[in-house]
Amino acid sequence: MEKITVPTRPIEGQKPGTSGLRKKTSVFMGPHYLENFIQATFSAIGGVAGKTLVLGGDGRYFNNQAAQVILRMAAAGGAARVIVGQDALLSTPAASHLIRKRATDGGLILSASHNPGGPDEDFGVKFNMPNGGPAPEEVTARIYAETTRLTCYDILEAQDVDLSQPGTTTLGGMVVEVVDPVADYAALMAGLFDFDAIRALIAGGFTLRFDAMHAVTGPYARAILQGMLGAPEGSVINAVPQPDFGGGHPDPNPIWAKPLVDLMMGPDAPDFAAASDGDGDRNMVLGRGLYVTPSDSLAVLAANAHLAPGYAAGLKGVARSMPTSRAVDRVAAARGLRCYETPTGWKFFGNLLDAGRATLCGEESAGTGSDHVREKDGLWAVLLWLNILASTKLSVAQILHAHWREFGRNYYTRHDYEALDAATAEAMLDDLRARLPNLPGRVFAGRTVASADEFAYDDPVDGSHSAAQGLRIAFEGGARIVYRLSGTGTVGATLRVYLEEFVDDPDRLDLAPETALAAIIAAADQIAGIRAHTGRSAPDVTT
Ligand code: G1P
Ligand code: ZN
Repeated sequence: MEKITVPTRPIEGQKPGTSGLRKKTSVFMGPHYLENFIQATFSAIGGVAGKTLVLGGDGRYFNNQAAQVILRMAAAGGAARVIVGQDALLSTPAASHLIRKRATDGGLILSASHNPGGPDEDFGVKFNMPNGGPAPEEVTARIYAETTRLTCYDILEAQDVDLSQPGTTTLGGMVVEVVDPVADYAALMAGLFDFDAIRALIAGGFTLRFDAMHAVTGPYARAILQGMLGAPEGSVINAVPQPDFGGGHPDPNPIWAKPLVDLMMGPDAPDFAAASDGDGDRNMVLGRGLYVTPSDSLAVLAANAHLAPGYAAGLKGVARSMPTSRAVDRVAAARGLRCYETPTGWKFFGNLLDAGRATLCGEESAGTGSDHVREKDGLWAVLLWLNILASTKLSVAQILHAHWREFGRNYYTRHDYEALDAATAEAMLDDLRARLPNLPGRVFAGRTVASADEFAYDDPVDGSHSAAQGLRIAFEGGARIVYRLSGTGTVGATLRVYLEEFVDDPDRLDLAPETALAAIIAAADQIAGIRAHTGRSAPDVTT
């Protein structure tokens, strides 16, 4: 097996976004595209000679070929060992756990998360650090810089490695260790949660449905929910990972997981339902007749985590991304917990978790997690919910209503305007940014603006500064609007408008969210001029 050095040239646009580099699959499959990015990543971390890496992905189209290329490049770079999930599969949280458990030098995760997969859809690559978390901005900036000055990359001339069975082989001088993608992760979960209590709950007739959306969590959910916890066969649906996720968006929200939502709103609803995304880090939770917003889920989990053995000692603190509703802040205030507000993207939680400042973190985009790994974790959230339901013997609806009565309710929705012309979207936000200082005191749709600013974050652990993280407008009484552009899209610009209304009047805790939020939705258009700037009269996706 010979190492060859292939001449190449920088390829434009290899700048990692909110979560690694995401592009159309056809772009990734283009000449040198993947190889350039991998070489840049290796260079940015000081090379891979003598290092051990973890490798796996969500099983989307091109997953396996990409894994083989990365193995050959790691071998050419002199890596000592790569630990790969069987069939090149690893959920993002399972990869994060393996990186940590095996004390490796980091890992590569092949995924575009909740974006659809297939030859005409999306692919992605993300580097995670030795702590198991996504590379911080300083590292992704280095990776990007390397992509702009590459002249060649190294790769081994070799056949594909058989990844279909656990075991150890070699590729050049490098050990390739193929592992069961589920085993270590399942053991971690069994250590955090009261599996006996959940098993007893299910044995007592509690019913659940988990929709793996044809993505990576199928094998995990089957092994844990059906295998270890005794949920009947068929409780986990769409459980076989498909390269195109069955043609759908593997995004666990009421739009893309509509059949599950319909089931839960209908007469045959089980007691509990959940779904997760392409790479298994997102989650959606539903009770009978009830959708739990991710922001509420974070708040409920924060208020009740101590019921699970892994969190019985209490939480060190909580953190949420800035656009996530402030429901968890109210729990933190009531329980005397530290509460952090970070920019969008899981990477900003890493330092807080590493430093022991926060135990639980969450994002409005269906991400919740804790310090057990350094990624958000869909199945973990489901298991914590199940543990809470098993301990309290309450239904999801009872838990939520009790929560709102105690802390008030943060009604919440997000409106996405997709595939906007990037210049138009930026001009709209530039215009609004310039008007922010004049907004306090003004009234829109009957609401008075209390403050308006552009969010920036100073990391309390490493002192790094992240500017321009979204425009936020707070109203008297606790309502809020946030505007920001997506950092994960692959076509044009996506404007996200995050809308929140706070209610603590006991008679108004059960409104339809669209009713509770109507004034704030109207104010959002009036303030930013969305319609006037973009010509769009309604969002493409509402979650
Ligand atoms: C989106 C979500 C964000 C999440 C990220 C990766 O990023 O909004 O919360 O961390 O995907 O899953 P965005 O496209 O908004 O930049
Ligand atoms: Zn994901």
